[in-house]
Amino acid sequence: MEKLIIHGGNPLRGTVRISSAKNAVLPIIVATLLPETPATIVDAPDLDDVATICSVLESLGVKVDRHEGRLTFDASDIKRAEASYELMSRMRASFLIMGPLLAKMGHARIALPGGCMIGSRPIDLHLKAFEAMGAEIHMGNGFVEGRAPNGLTGTTIYLDFPSVGATENILMAAVTAKGQTIIENAAEEPEIVDLVTFLNSMGANIKGAGTNVIRVEGVKSLLGVEHTVIPDRIEAGTFMIAAAMVGGDVLISNVLSEHLKPLLAKLHEAGVKVVKEFDSVRVISDGHITSTDIKTLPYPGFPTDLQAQFMALMTIGNKESKITETVFENRFMHVGELQRMGASIRVEGRTAIVTGVPFLKGAFVRATDLRAGAALTLAGLSAHGQTEIGELHHIDRGYDHLVEKLQGLGADIVRVNED
Ligand code: EPZ
Repeated sequence: MEKLIIHGGNPLRGTVRISSAKNAVLPIIVATLLPETPATIVDAPDLDDVATICSVLESLGVKVDRHEGRLTFDASDIKRAEASYELMSRMRASFLIMGPLLAKMGHARIALPGGCMIGSRPIDLHLKAFEAMGAEIHMGNGFVEGRAPNGLTGTTIYLDFPSVGATENILMAAVTAKGQTIIENAAEEPEIVDLVTFLNSMGANIKGAGTNVIRVEGVKSLLGVEHTVIPDRIEAGTFMIAAAMVGGDVLISNVLSEHLKPLLAKLHEAGVKVVKEFDSVRVISDGHITSTDIKTLPYPGFPTDLQAQFMALMTIGNKESKITETVFENRFMHVGELQRMGASIRVEGRTAIVTGVPFLKGAFVRATDLRAGAALTLAGLSAHGQTEIGELHHIDRGYDHLVEKLQGLGADIVRVNED
């Protein structure tokens, strides 16, 4: 089994370049199902989730050409509109293919995505929207089947929750639907804006991305283009918190700091010096942390994908911190693992109360999900002694060369295979 071995205590110094955003590149790759001519993604991140979504598209008959970070997709001759449980169960985001398949093929038969460690993660908002656009939806023996033989028709859709995935799925269904689609209470994440930039550059007609009302005018067809994906604000935030927690002086490049306003504010409250430059952020810290509270919210609130990492930071705060998770119902799997490292945390419903301790102690822990794995890595870099982290496949899903990037900043971290 592969694991990380970390000896904590080295301050982090130097420069690290952030990769393209996982949560933007995944829907954008799915959107390459829509144009009649090939589309290319430039400088895609090297992630297991990117490999997974490419496999899903190939299983539909899309020709995928990969040259390092340059990915070209040709969906002009899709043969199938079905996705197996084996493929879908690897990554929930694969469910995003439903919108484009309904739009392009008029039908789709997709295995229901599994939940995952952070919650049930239903797809009711996606399906309700497709029905409102005229699709017939049937569920049975682990599959969801959609049919829209006469195409989809635009309508007004109100999302009970500003779901990122539902907003993306609806957008991809709506771009070639008949008439206008209005999404109300839409997700406002930067990754939605990047998807819309990509769709509009292919000939779609979408307005309002980044606000909670998005208007789509259906168009006849789309033509493939070349697109560079935005930087990964969650990877950037992870490195900012690492520098804050371990101490040091780190320049994080290829960052759009306006996407990280809540974290910048919270790091300031935690007593960490953050200097914003044009497309980079510099974090200077002596590792002494002032406890502060966070509450995760849909964008532009504090991102749920940085909650675990920020909790790790608060474990060495100078007093008590309340961490409230409002987006997912079970995103505290990292609490038990942090407690094994000496953290003092108690969970009361959706709030974790973290009482700072002088330092963490190295231990054998395991990643329970992607961001928990990142949080434990930061904890290990800061802890006294040796930390070993198992279940690395979670981390490989969403971090591009995390170990090498941390080694480049002076961290004592290696990946070993101990079979
Ligand atoms: C996206 O997941 C991200 N994944 C997640 O990042 C991120 O945590 C999440 O958005 C919230 O920002 C990708 O973009 C690939 P949601 P998604 O639909 O689309 C409920 C990471 O670590 N909901 O906004 O699945 C749902 O149960 C991952 O990179 C419904 O109730 O998130 C959850 O409580 C983890 N019904 C809440 O909305 C639905 O039909 C947020 O889910 C859909 C969602």
